Amino acid sequence: MPAKFIVGTQFGDEGKGKTTDFFAEKADLVVRYQGGNNAGHTVVVGDRTYKFHLLPSGLLQGKKCCIGAGVAIDPRVLVDEIKQIESEAKINLAIDPRAHIIMPWHNALDAARESAKGKKKIGTTGRGIGPCYEDRAARNGIRFVELVNGEKLKERIAELFPLKKKILEEIYGAKVDFTEEGIFKQYSELGKQLLPLLSDVSIEVSNALKAGKEVLFEGAQGTFLDNDFGTYPFVTSSHPIAGGAFTGIGIGLLKEFEVIGIVKAYTTRVGSGIFPTELEGKLADRIRETGKEFGTTTGRPRRVGWLDLVLLRTAVRLNGLTGIALTKPDVLNGIEELKVCTAYECNGKEMKEFPADWHAVENCKPVYKTFKGFNIAPETKDFDELPQEAKDYIGFMEEELGVPAKIISTGPKRSQTILR
Ligand code: IMP
Repeated sequence: MPAKFIVGTQFGDEGKGKTTDFFAEKADLVVRYQGGNNAGHTVVVGDRTYKFHLLPSGLLQGKKCCIGAGVAIDPRVLVDEIKQIESEAKINLAIDPRAHIIMPWHNALDAARESAKGKKKIGTTGRGIGPCYEDRAARNGIRFVELVNGEKLKERIAELFPLKKKILEEIYGAKVDFTEEGIFKQYSELGKQLLPLLSDVSIEVSNALKAGKEVLFEGAQGTFLDNDFGTYPFVTSSHPIAGGAFTGIGIGLLKEFEVIGIVKAYTTRVGSGIFPTELEGKLADRIRETGKEFGTTTGRPRRVGWLDLVLLRTAVRLNGLTGIALTKPDVLNGIEELKVCTAYECNGKEMKEFPADWHAVENCKPVYKTFKGFNIAPETKDFDELPQEAKDYIGFMEEELGVPAKIISTGPKRSQTILR
């Protein structure tokens, strides 16, 4: 299939990095379409662990990679990540001129807003993502095409800096520790370094698809962090769902494509927001420790809970999933009894899909089906070799969602993958 979308079906951190890396081997082009360095993709190759925030995971496979118009780019992070892997992988990267740039005032505003919100804070990654997308919509942003053009960059900074400084100081009472001259100096230098990567990604991807090449669309974050369809306002500011790729890159609708939803065998969430199947206590600690559920970007401990089919049914619809990649079932190894949420019970009624207004399920109770625990050997190569209890768990999920699990990941390494 020429076009394959990799999307997170839960609250992010489902293991998209490993799955993208797996599919990237056969792809001609790997493209990111939204988000920024709020993402954290972990890929393990041999004995080395790579953590990317902005670079598409496919770079490690030596593939041509693109960053589309919908991505928020922090050039400080991008240059740093490129430096980290340039000695090991060929950097074959194209960046769309329309992509928006994260400026120091975006980080400062992100922090100032969160602290002003107090208990109602979103728990953002603090990377300036929200303020950058806000400026894009308000037409107050700086785009990649301006970053790489010193004169234009100077003009834009001169126009925006006084306004941002005023907001930070007078509204939020924040200390502004950057200057107009300092930002220009730093960013114009970064622009010079990144200029060779400027390319119209919309044209590149459209041409690749027309030529029948294999294009992998790498989503960041997850369905329930989508700015429209997630648990607003506890969401990110972009569109992680598959549809976000069309506007985030600038391509027309496709006749044929595959959408692989990455499903973690349990649920995790970082930051605030509703989490119906959340666990606390010893079991939660055990899953968090075994699954290394600490944010790749911020190091924060992730909240953990049981697999939630209400969320997943909704994710199937929102993304048009054609297949599932199930990650980390091995983290549940040794737990005697596993639970899967099949519905929410609200005032005597069962709710099977996640509602538009999450307040409607705030006081509902998850309905659980209980499964016998399993032990998955890390080097299992064949689905048939899995313990029957694991097959039952996976089979139930497939049946309830009407989507096959095409990949089952049995550990962090590339080799620890079952393909069906
Ligand atoms: P922001 O994207 O930094 O504005 O954060 C908004 C919300 O999305 C917060 O709850 C973050 O923890 C969450 N978030 C953002 N990026 C990721 C990610 O890559 N994985 C998981 N959660 C994320």
